[in-house]
Amino acid sequence: MTEPYSPPGAASAADIDSEAARHSPAQAQATASTSNSDPHQYASPWPLHGGQGEALLRCLGVDPSSAAGPFVDLSASLNPLGPPTWFGDWLAGAGGHLWRYPDPRQPLARAALAAHHGVAQQQLWLTNGGAEAIHLVAQCHRGGRALIVEPTFGEYARACALNDISVSRIMLQGDDFRLDVDALCQAMTGVDLVFLCRPNNPTGTLARRDDVATLLRHARRVGALLVVDEAFAEFSDEDEGEDEGEDESAFAECSDDAAGDGRCAAQGPLCQWLAPGADTSVDVPLVLLRSLTKFYTLPGLRLGYVMASAARIRALAERQVAWSLNGLAEAVVPELLADGDFAEASRGWLADERDRLCQALRALGLVVPESRANFVLLRLPGAATPQRGEVLLRGLARHAILGRHTHTFRGLDGAWVRLALSTAEVNDRVVEALADIIAAETVAGGSQTPCSGGSA
Ligand SMILES: Cc1ncc(COP(=O)(O)O)c(C=O)c1O
Repeated sequence: MTEPYSPPGAASAADIDSEAARHSPAQAQATASTSNSDPHQYASPWPLHGGQGEALLRCLGVDPSSAAGPFVDLSASLNPLGPPTWFGDWLAGAGGHLWRYPDPRQPLARAALAAHHGVAQQQLWLTNGGAEAIHLVAQCHRGGRALIVEPTFGEYARACALNDISVSRIMLQGDDFRLDVDALCQAMTGVDLVFLCRPNNPTGTLARRDDVATLLRHARRVGALLVVDEAFAEFSDEDEGEDEGEDESAFAECSDDAAGDGRCAAQGPLCQWLAPGADTSVDVPLVLLRSLTKFYTLPGLRLGYVMASAARIRALAERQVAWSLNGLAEAVVPELLADGDFAEASRGWLADERDRLCQALRALGLVVPESRANFVLLRLPGAATPQRGEVLLRGLARHAILGRHTHTFRGLDGAWVRLALSTAEVNDRVVEALADIIAAETVAGGSQTPCSGGSA
């Protein structure tokens, strides 16, 4: 426990409550910020990201020694199957990548990833995690105007603040976090770039592909750039399955559509829209952000990348700190992509566990939006207050399970909890713990009886 203690206290909860009233999910219109500082992030005593267990426990006022056994951390959304079993051996023999400078052209990783996605090498650039990709995109639009689809990952707002980009926001709607495409198109006027997370952190929801096609056409019309963060795309099943049976002409249509002739892109991963045949000079106003850290459980290695037009990639690469991508990260990418067994096992695990866990959570009466990611968002039915979110988080912590608080997510404001999907055994433990917490709440006569009314 080395970090300064930030008390959980009622005072901060009250502040957050008043913010919640101003930014409830029901608020459809984009709200322009007058200042770039974001009280949701900077004034909050809560940790800004998942994976900060000690800080979270301090905020919750839970003594780690009071918990039932060793903690399982579900506050960061990492694949429980990773890293791949060969990684330790590979690392032991990979010293040669550390005692020389990495090649700044990133040739191994770029070639492997470009081939994997079917884009040209000039359309892809690796970054120090997906987080650096977000900040590099923002640097390319310094002093501009951005629109952020909220509630979402806080680094978009942070990158905008650091680059004097003024921010307006549009909220996903209701407890199922629907995207209002018409409202988003309207709000795009006068905007330089739009941040859309897909699947979205923290809701897990996936904007429909045809909606994204509509947004892209509109972005082109109004001169905006659509930035789609696909950090969790490997978990969304979309790159798989839905492309099956697709022929070359469907690819051509997607490309032409993205380039603006109005045809609808119906199938396949979004990166197809960047690859209009061999002609990499066509400037589709689309930037795709990716991360390998979550799927391969290598967050400390820092592995992200961007796919965009060759011109945008050049502009972005020029702004990157030299050797930002370390030699180990570059060298391991082809090995990761070649491991089809790991990818297949991970997708099998996800297919089994996500629906099973969501159903079990809903059977407890919890509100659980449809997730297409490797995490689920949930809250108690009835009033959505930060206090009730903390009841869940604190109860989980006592069962030695760390969840992700949502105090720093605009519009969620602490009422919800995000949990990473884990192995069947851990997921069962989560369900049991939540059943206990709900039962205790009911016996204690909490402001609601969570299980009685089904989902709200
Ligand atoms: C939506 C989203 N994008 C990007 C990132 C950054 O991931 P990394 O920098 O570890 O690749 C995260 C991390 O949680 C995220 O949730």
